[in-house]
Amino acid sequence: MGDNTLSVTDNRTGQSFELPLEDGTVRAMSFRQMKTSEDDFGLMVYDPAFTNTASCKSRITFIDGDVGILRYRGYPIEQLAPNSTYLEVAYLIVFGELPNKKQLDQWVHDITNHTFVHENIKKFMDGFHHDAHPMGMLVSTVAALSTFYPESKEILDDDIRMVQIKRLIAKMPTLAAFAYRHSNGLPYAYPDNDLSFTGNLLNMLYKMSEAKYEPDPVLEQALELLFILHVDHEQNCSANAMRAVGSSHVDPYSATAAATAALYGPLHGGANEAVLRMLTDIGSVERVPEYVKRFKEGEQLLMGFGHRVYKNYDPRASIIKEMAHKVFDVTGRNPLLDIALELEKIALEDEYFVSRKLYPNVDFYSGIIYQSMGFPVAMFPVLFAIPRTAGWVAQWQEMLLDSDQKIARPRQIFLGEDERDFVEMAKRR
Ligand code: CMC
Repeated sequence: MGDNTLSVTDNRTGQSFELPLEDGTVRAMSFRQMKTSEDDFGLMVYDPAFTNTASCKSRITFIDGDVGILRYRGYPIEQLAPNSTYLEVAYLIVFGELPNKKQLDQWVHDITNHTFVHENIKKFMDGFHHDAHPMGMLVSTVAALSTFYPESKEILDDDIRMVQIKRLIAKMPTLAAFAYRHSNGLPYAYPDNDLSFTGNLLNMLYKMSEAKYEPDPVLEQALELLFILHVDHEQNCSANAMRAVGSSHVDPYSATAAATAALYGPLHGGANEAVLRMLTDIGSVERVPEYVKRFKEGEQLLMGFGHRVYKNYDPRASIIKEMAHKVFDVTGRNPLLDIALELEKIALEDEYFVSRKLYPNVDFYSGIIYQSMGFPVAMFPVLFAIPRTAGWVAQWQEMLLDSDQKIARPRQIFLGEDERDFVEMAKRR
């Protein structure tokens, strides 16, 4: 028996098997050989929601949820957040190494030169109802980009693929800002390529009649930091959607639309929006204990708390909490912060949350900052989608270049009716 194996005895047949282990993992296909007869399909493993199934090998993001570690390509988030820019981190995520000065300049130049979208995109936007949710508009318009770039179907061509990666990272802010301007009945503001990535986003969102928009440097920097924190988070729901849909070899715009749709859900990127609504609903520090009781009784979830992977404080939440004060120096203190702090304090001492290892996640404080910066609540998941696009395209590319990968196609345990004969309408009960 090898050291790196797992011995399994199938008690139905008495047969023993030695299954190879690799990277602390056993291949699910190893179980297929365990059969009760020649025509038996073989054993499968059952794992709804992939709670203990590795769907890929990855070299992008590492999380140790028990101790609260998050690293992009080996670099701790605590070092990247204060020292780099979003585009520098996007380069790191996509290429695997930090760029040198020349590489970064070229990358920033390339992304900046892809920020414009086809004029017809404005016509799609105009078709949406005035109160359409900006995530709905983003999902649809990013999918629509595939129709402007038919060559993007050539996903296995390295050069074509890289152009789409740059376009996606560059155009998401433009689509996001157009969605915002549409909701507000404002004329679309074109990208200003003299500004930084986040400065330009603020320009496209808020520019009015001034000849040149000048972003507030504190807000510009706060957005850089928030974007860095949101770049990637290994195999989360939207990354999994990107990989699963991309595994059909569809173009990356369609796959990104699927990932954006996954992010929209309140259990994923929509959580920061849900946190803000929850804090507003609570309304005052005095009402926090009453709400904590409701959360414990299962009446509603404490949004922004809990995580599938983190069973400790989400390191991104600590960084955001610290940054909040700098932003409030410019914008004024958001009164919801006091409710959030009280909620966190009570929850972190309460047996219900302690025993379940429920801690604040990235969404608990991000919404309060976004609100203070003047973003409407509906824009919060959009502000998550913009930087997460770099993570999605990196995950997508890694999947495409991985020889282990095929079209994603899970199995099922069929528990429905066995074969039965069709019943004529007159004879049905
Ligand atoms: N409030 C109250 N109870 C909770 C919460 C919460 N936020 N989260 C989990 N629980 C309870 C849950 O009811 C269960 O209790 P019991 O064992 O008595 O049945 C226990 O904790 C374990 O929860 P789970 O549902 O098995 O955990 P999960 O890993 O399936 O879910 C989660 C993770 C993030 C979906 C969940 O914690 C949740 O819904 N949180 C609120 C939504 C949220 O903040 N989402 C943002 C996630 S971070 C950003 C992102 O990834 O996009």
